[in-house]
Amino acid sequence: MILSDSPEFRALKYGQYLAQTNRNPICLSSVFIDPRLLPIKKIEKTILKLAKSHRLSKSNDPQGNDRLRIEIAKRLKKASIGVEPEELILTHGSQQAIDLVTRAMTGRVVATEDPPYFLARSLFEVNQKSMVGLPVCPFTGVDKKKWLKQIETKKPALVYLTSRFQNPSGYSYTEFELQWICEQSAANHFRILEDDWASDMMSSRTNHKSLRQRMGSSVFYMNSFTKKLFPGLRVGYLVANKASLEPLMAVKRASTSSVSGILEQVLCELMVSGDYDEHLAELQVQVQKRYEASVEALEKMKIRLGRREIEFNFTRPMGGSVLWVGLSKKSDTEKLAHDLLKESVRILAARGGFKLGFAFLSEREMKKALQIVERLLLVAF
Ligand SMILES: Cc1ncc(COP(=O)(O)O)c(C=O)c1O
Repeated sequence: MILSDSPEFRALKYGQYLAQTNRNPICLSSVFIDPRLLPIKKIEKTILKLAKSHRLSKSNDPQGNDRLRIEIAKRLKKASIGVEPEELILTHGSQQAIDLVTRAMTGRVVATEDPPYFLARSLFEVNQKSMVGLPVCPFTGVDKKKWLKQIETKKPALVYLTSRFQNPSGYSYTEFELQWICEQSAANHFRILEDDWASDMMSSRTNHKSLRQRMGSSVFYMNSFTKKLFPGLRVGYLVANKASLEPLMAVKRASTSSVSGILEQVLCELMVSGDYDEHLAELQVQVQKRYEASVEALEKMKIRLGRREIEFNFTRPMGGSVLWVGLSKKSDTEKLAHDLLKESVRILAARGGFKLGFAFLSEREMKKALQIVERLLLVAF
């Protein structure tokens, strides 16, 4: 039997991906970084250099290019995540990291944030896992009472969490919440898969200590290069531990046999040459600028709408690529999304608000899109 077989299910999900990469209509809710900020020239140069020197990789270790694993482990150590290259599994984007852990786990129940990262939810569904939602409010965070009730009654074996800059809410757990999550993991015996996909998209730094740092190698940790480097250069990684390596590798080999050795080699060259770090530093500055410009525009909008007593608020995640715009609970966000589409602006709406991606649009595009949102909100109220 094919799971989730309804045409609506598939069309919606694939449509959502395409919509996020579009400029016509302008996608105001994209998690992607503007491709114009990505180092396509550096990637092309590296591929040519490797090809001309006949150094294109002939080997493809199923666990991933060993030099690249060393480079990643070095960077993780700098970020205080101690890991040996042998504990790292390179993946086809970080999506595959979620897939490997999901399929290698023996339990049937998985918990994740509500609202969830929608492709993780789809993945749990197609793997026939039973899903438990853990409510997170973009403004006030974890609803501990509801989390506890869900955890204690449904007993998830795995809890998949994005510790900072969640998609779609943009929320990052507070120090207090992270500590509490660690305590619950010990008390209720669930493993954690920590998704850190958006941690290094912006230049401002926080003192955030990851769950992996707090709880050590019992936490699976994952990250990705796809958004920051190029969506088509699909390399991510999973930090496992020595005990879980074998089962995870068995799933990986059964699923994809081996790896894209050439892509991994290209990424490795970019790292060894310093091109990747140079690009990342520049990208972080650019994303920061866009973030600050978006926040400034939203502040002004909030004041103007406030004068008309229109409820409008937004979060300030200081990282990642998305923030959350909150509207009155009574507002019809579906209608807003529908009306915006007629004006060539697309949002991914939810009850009480929508996700705003600040790294995808230029400052000019953002300003234009927000003007349209403001005009429609003024008409609606
Ligand atoms: C929270 C989160 N995790 C993981 C991913 C997967 O990223 P990729 O497979 O492109 O590395 C995404 C993509 O948008 C995401 O939003």
